[in-house]
Amino acid sequence: MYTPQQEKDFLVTAKEFIKKESLKNEDISSVISILNYADWKYYVKDNPVLADKEYDVLFALLKKIETEKPSLILSDSPTQRVAKGLNPNFETVAHLVPMLSLDNSYNAEDLNDWHNRNVKLLSKEGLQAAPDLFGVPIPVAQPVIEYCVEPKFDGASISLVYENDKLLRGATRGNGIAGDDITTNAKQIKSIPLSANFSQEGIEQIEMRGEVVIQKEKFNAFNQSLVEQNLSPMANPRNAASGSLRMKDPNEVAKRNLDAFVYQISDVQGNVPFKTHYESLESLSKKGFRTSYEISKVFNKIEDVIKYCAEFEETRDELSYEIDGLVIKVNSFDLQEKIGMTSHHPRWAMAYKFKARQATSKLLNIEYQVGRTGSITPVAKIEPVYVGGVTISSLSLFNEDIIKEKDMRIGDTVLIERAGDVIPYVVKSFPELRDGSEQEVIFPTVCPVCNSELFKPEEEAVWRCTNINCEAQVVERIIHFASKNAMDIRGLGESNIRKFFEMGLLKDLPGVYRLPYNQIKNMEGFGEKSIEKMEEAIEKTKSQPLHRLIFGLGIRYVGETTAKNLAREISHLNELSTKTEEQLLAIEDIGTKVAQSILDFFEHDGNIALLKELEVLGLNFENHQKNKSVSGELAGKTFLFTGTLPTLGRKEAEEMAEAKGGKILSGVSTKLDYLIAGEKAGSKLEKAKKLGSVNIISEEEFIELVKV
Ligand code: IVH
Repeated sequence: MYTPQQEKDFLVTAKEFIKKESLKNEDISSVISILNYADWKYYVKDNPVLADKEYDVLFALLKKIETEKPSLILSDSPTQRVAKGLNPNFETVAHLVPMLSLDNSYNAEDLNDWHNRNVKLLSKEGLQAAPDLFGVPIPVAQPVIEYCVEPKFDGASISLVYENDKLLRGATRGNGIAGDDITTNAKQIKSIPLSANFSQEGIEQIEMRGEVVIQKEKFNAFNQSLVEQNLSPMANPRNAASGSLRMKDPNEVAKRNLDAFVYQISDVQGNVPFKTHYESLESLSKKGFRTSYEISKVFNKIEDVIKYCAEFEETRDELSYEIDGLVIKVNSFDLQEKIGMTSHHPRWAMAYKFKARQATSKLLNIEYQVGRTGSITPVAKIEPVYVGGVTISSLSLFNEDIIKEKDMRIGDTVLIERAGDVIPYVVKSFPELRDGSEQEVIFPTVCPVCNSELFKPEEEAVWRCTNINCEAQVVERIIHFASKNAMDIRGLGESNIRKFFEMGLLKDLPGVYRLPYNQIKNMEGFGEKSIEKMEEAIEKTKSQPLHRLIFGLGIRYVGETTAKNLAREISHLNELSTKTEEQLLAIEDIGTKVAQSILDFFEHDGNIALLKELEVLGLNFENHQKNKSVSGELAGKTFLFTGTLPTLGRKEAEEMAEAKGGKILSGVSTKLDYLIAGEKAGSKLEKAKKLGSVNIISEEEFIELVKV
């Protein structure tokens, strides 16, 4: 990033400026460079070069001349990190490339399996293309795959976009497709450079992914300060980091001393100067970003990867921040492209999750929660215990059988584990530690909320309250209806729903559209503005696409994908109520259990009345796409996009096809009608050519096709 000579010069010049009363116009860019250099040394390299006092003097000199001559302010001046005022509501911004998740592995076997899948994927083409000897294919040499192993940071993911060398935007992950624009808050994180020299290598715009973390020591100090102010401490560093990103007051964000590690380049416009992931980390590191470059390692044998993972796990606590595993990535971008991705995760990357951590505690009590479908979930209340970075005082026991199986009694010592990542559970109890005061658990026979008798179907493990009007169920149904993946009612989250329900302001699901805003406006914690926003958000949900409403109804076993499949088949919600079991079973991915549950739902008069009410309230019951697609040229046709399209984004193109009734497939097969091949189309294009049955077209031809 800087030559030793440059570093020396910075320090000498800094000392000279510090002695001055004021700066001249021509000094501004030098002082900015010095301060940015000092920030980099301090926040990225953990190696401060200026005393706090010296930094403050230089900063004040710069601030002074910028205040006098605002036209001279440069966008990468460190003064521009200091935010004035509060963030307005965060705007939603689309990521240039969707932010995917990672597939998980837990042991050597998983990693070996993954490696073998990669080898198979990469050698397939080779094998097919290989010459054969009297009809027997000659196997080609197995491909050597280089893997880069790096930490899996346990924080909040962030996306950063730089354009013409300047930080243009910071965004949260959101739903993976679009997140919240948190640029102002991102600028409070000093390890995120305000500018970086990308243009030198011909990069015009770059989108990168990273993780915002808080160092363990800073987290503890921060929690201590919360306790001193009589505020509740945060459960773990991850929550502290993710909560901070969406804070209204950027100055509060600055106080949390967050850090950001960049771990992935997701999109580059212009020249792409690196061929491997490791090179990209090195390059970012040299440009002033905090990356895992120094602690990442490249191996070309999966055995070495596995060995390194085991070694690293032993020393995880030596790092100053929490990590929950390692990420192993195929190093070559070329091979990454060939291996491809699913809609959920790249196939070329794998998270290696560290073993869950365990601790013992005491079972104090068991409470019973009633879920949306009436399920009764026993919840263990335990003496608070710190397990793998989180304080746990309450954890789900799932069902009665588990209590019996683990022979749990109130007062028992229990072993707690944080399985995988977040959901903690009881591994076992210790009967040998009993002193006789422990009490047997008596599972309730009536609903703890409405007192109706509980019922357990033979084949199920869960007791249910069958009273559909049970208040607990009603509240849970409203919470589900308003939730992010259903109707997505911003401002009407779980706590407000519970509050309104308890106060009698919200009695049932349609009540969401009849909230007494005049009354709520006078309640503590609600301002006129926030109420206006809530009303607006609720009103807006009336035009949500049909599949969200279907999912939001909370029909048992009807998840998001099933809701989408159902919506695709109908042009009006009422059509669903007339479908026979046979017709339902003919729909993609619907089996007897789901079909029966849908039939049961419509059997119930209360549900029919509910739908009528929602329709009268003006909710969208129609699937406009279905109407179009019925007559559309592309109804039932299947599409797949590969390579970089010249003008359309992948998502945009897919939506265009879907809008005309087309369906997107995830791979090339005889079922595929159209493959739209962009630049650098790889194995998919080859396969389609070999099959011969696929129409291979360009973006231009595709656009012509959907115009029809
Ligand atoms: S790569 C397409 N690398 O883990 C690339 N993710 O479970 C996908 N994470 O939300 C991600 N450290 O925020 C990648 N070194 C790392 C990471 C990392 C932490 C997070 C990331 C993501 C989650 C996936």
